[in-house]
Amino acid sequence: MPNLHTQDPFFPDAFVWGAATASAQIEGGWNQDGRGPSIWDVFCRQEGNVLNGDTTSQACDFYNRWHDDIALMSQMGLQAFRFSISWSRVFPDGTGEINQAGLDFYSQLVDALLANGIRPYVTLYHWDLPQALQLKGGWLNRDIADWFTRYTETLVQCLGDRVKDWITFNEPQIFLGFGYSDGTHAPGVSLPHEEVFQAAHHVNLAHGRATKKIREFVKDAKVGIAIATKIGIPADEHDPAHIEAARKATIHPEWKDGSDKHTTYLNNAWWPDPMIHGRYPEILEKHLPGFLDQFPASDMEEICQPLDFFGYNYYFGIVVEPADNEKGWQALPEQAGEPRTMIGWPVHPSGLYWASRFFYDAYQLPLYVFENGLSSMDWVDTEGNVKDHHRIDFLTRYLAQYSRAHEDNIPLAGYFHWSLMDNFEWAQGYRERFGLIHVDYQTLKRTPKESAIWYQKVIQSNGKHLFSPSIT
Ligand code: NOJ
Repeated sequence: MPNLHTQDPFFPDAFVWGAATASAQIEGGWNQDGRGPSIWDVFCRQEGNVLNGDTTSQACDFYNRWHDDIALMSQMGLQAFRFSISWSRVFPDGTGEINQAGLDFYSQLVDALLANGIRPYVTLYHWDLPQALQLKGGWLNRDIADWFTRYTETLVQCLGDRVKDWITFNEPQIFLGFGYSDGTHAPGVSLPHEEVFQAAHHVNLAHGRATKKIREFVKDAKVGIAIATKIGIPADEHDPAHIEAARKATIHPEWKDGSDKHTTYLNNAWWPDPMIHGRYPEILEKHLPGFLDQFPASDMEEICQPLDFFGYNYYFGIVVEPADNEKGWQALPEQAGEPRTMIGWPVHPSGLYWASRFFYDAYQLPLYVFENGLSSMDWVDTEGNVKDHHRIDFLTRYLAQYSRAHEDNIPLAGYFHWSLMDNFEWAQGYRERFGLIHVDYQTLKRTPKESAIWYQKVIQSNGKHLFSPSIT
């Protein structure tokens, strides 16, 4: 491993090392203790939507096994655990009556995490909308901003004395691009641009109102988002023109029509621009003239609330070079035999450095990587171990690049591995394994992989172990 770094320490002193999950992907217990159905419970039961007909019903059964899972987190030395709340566990109908048992579950989980010295990071929305709200139009109904605010208020009233770190939305790009545009994720609809942007605007409004609510109830709250990313990586790192081409590919939205339409929403700016800068990218007015006139002018003030961090999820990027076209860049063709993870994504470690640099330049907030990891071909071997050396190699390369951003004095707040354990990978079902802990879905047995033991050393040494594996 080349030592890209000259500085010690490799990460800031207050850096937080964690692992991330989401309710629909790990909890199971889909109808236990009064929980209502979510759009994913419905979507995965419709034939042909999810690989092998896999469902969310049991998942990792975290809902019933969380005590044991916290013990594993503790063994791993995790400093923080990012999880999301299942809205329909707290409000089975999305609004109306609170399901106290659902709320108690999260309250007990938070207590147990804190008792183990693990800081809870709560994501309010990681894609599992209550089905009852979908029947009222879901994110297309402007009232959803009020429903979401009430849901948020209930959570901060209950957990806000103990949970300080709040992520309003996870990857709006994906739940709208895949769920509302190309229809491959729940709720599985394919709407025209205009309607998807209405939904996007409602997400932004819900974010702004929820952020205000969190601050009203939580002393010392830290609030932000976790966006999906489309990162431009300069083909030649030493050429400033390549760097600028990559910056454009990262920050400037593109507009696509036809079968590519959903990729329009992958662009990074649609959410943080209004949330942080108080405006939408100009390209919106160009393609949907007058679109914003349908909303009250005060919406933008509500959307644009001070935030404490900028969170992003990174898996891979696009390698680009400057081009003489409207957008100013073009993607390089795939190289023969390029390394790929099991899900088919290319391996692009330096994107973690470039993403950090471009996002910090654009938004000037401390950064969190809220997801990063890979799906690998993991199984329990004849001796009972999971030897996932690909994961260790992948993470070593990616984290070294993240550390490079620290060397450039970009404020890095933390890193969360995706995922704590193998789980339900949406339309891919249970085939993809992203965890540090292996889950046998027949017996629900957990087996920490070698990467979990390795990650423990990385955490303990605040990253030194990446560069000198003999140091623990
Ligand atoms: C992003 C999503 O937030 C998460 O739910 C998903 O499992 C990972 N990426 C891997 O695809």
